[in-house]
Amino acid sequence: MSRPFDPQRFAVVDLIRRKRDGGGWSPDEARWIIEAYTAGFIAEEQMSALAMAVFFRGMSAEELDPWTQAMIDGGVRLDYSDLGRPTVDKHSTGGVGDKVTLVLTPLVAACGVAVPQLSGRGLGHTGGTLDKLEAIPGWRGDLTSAQVRRQLREVGGAIVAAGPELAPADRKLYALRDVTGTVESIPLIASSIMSKKIAEGTGALVLDVKVGSGAFMKDLAEACDLARTMVRIGTGAGVRTVALLSGMSTPLGLTAGNALEVREAVEVLAGGGPADVVELTLALAGEMLAAVGVDADPAEVLASGRAMDRWRRIIRAQGGDPGAPLPTALETEVVSASADGVLEQLDAMAVGLAAWHLGAGRVRKEDDVQAAAGVELHAKPGDLVRAGQPLLTLHTDTPERFAAAQQALADGIGIAPSGTTVTPSPLVLGRVA
Ligand code: URA
Repeated sequence: MSRPFDPQRFAVVDLIRRKRDGGGWSPDEARWIIEAYTAGFIAEEQMSALAMAVFFRGMSAEELDPWTQAMIDGGVRLDYSDLGRPTVDKHSTGGVGDKVTLVLTPLVAACGVAVPQLSGRGLGHTGGTLDKLEAIPGWRGDLTSAQVRRQLREVGGAIVAAGPELAPADRKLYALRDVTGTVESIPLIASSIMSKKIAEGTGALVLDVKVGSGAFMKDLAEACDLARTMVRIGTGAGVRTVALLSGMSTPLGLTAGNALEVREAVEVLAGGGPADVVELTLALAGEMLAAVGVDADPAEVLASGRAMDRWRRIIRAQGGDPGAPLPTALETEVVSASADGVLEQLDAMAVGLAAWHLGAGRVRKEDDVQAAAGVELHAKPGDLVRAGQPLLTLHTDTPERFAAAQQALADGIGIAPSGTTVTPSPLVLGRVA
């Protein structure tokens, strides 16, 4: 039996100093920090110092596991074991143009697996699934857990915001990390993601850990470390967890921005769409089905139109009209190639920032996003281009934003002389199980 929480049990300042100087915490100390912070006994400035000390010193498994468990225990842990169907969820660590969830959820649901897809909003240069779906007139993601359960029974899939009852410490800590420069820390990212995913009650989880300029993790070694940490936490908590590492040095697909990405996801569901979006969706769907032991061919289900049918049902069940026209921007501006040659670089971070400047993302959590803002790509790295040819179209309702978007793109586009061989790197870079 766990002991009752005692706010006086440890001195926070000693724990901060010890971590700062490279020492470790006992499992009890790590658990206590989360309990005390959630209960308001650790001040925000002390938690900022703790998070920064963790950023520089890291956390061992002996610290991180009880820390994450305390985050889960601070809220409710849902359980779908009575659903009569296996459950599997997917999580992406965040990228530019990543609309995979929109296709994957109905696709895997159409294969007979329930998908309680917990999703977030965009912050900074990365987009969020909830913002994308809110471009569909009427759609909403704030379902209660009873509504999610009913929808999983009736439709097989739900794309929803994490309710305040799931891992409440993460809500508080994530907001603090966001304003203290402590987001990009492997133990803090791993505990944040995994506490919500484990509390959400999924039976299995497939992680898409992004690597490259547009991702939190810029190199493969760091991304592998994050993937291994999350797989260990998930597996330890009884959730079958697998991770794929996928490239994020250039945007996924041909769009970045909310309504633009919904349109592209619908193209994929209709059997078309960009090859990279299809490839990653099928790779993740294969992992999700294997994780719950369901023998179905996701490529065949996608081609059959059954995933599209399921998409329409999921959107309707959450108040949206899947047939309604998507918003379009009031203004567009074209970015053209400056020379003949081969497109060598179209940097994910530059495109993500441009989309953000155009209004697709937010500066503060409370801000609204423009549904129609974003960037449309007309070429991908490796393509031959001619001087003056459109490379990108910028979309916004507020044309005074074009200059900042153009500025963000200035160093993000590279054209090599004609005849240069540009080999795009593989999309799926590794697997951790
Ligand atoms: N997404 C999360 O939920 N938490 C993080 O720390 C980073 C990305």
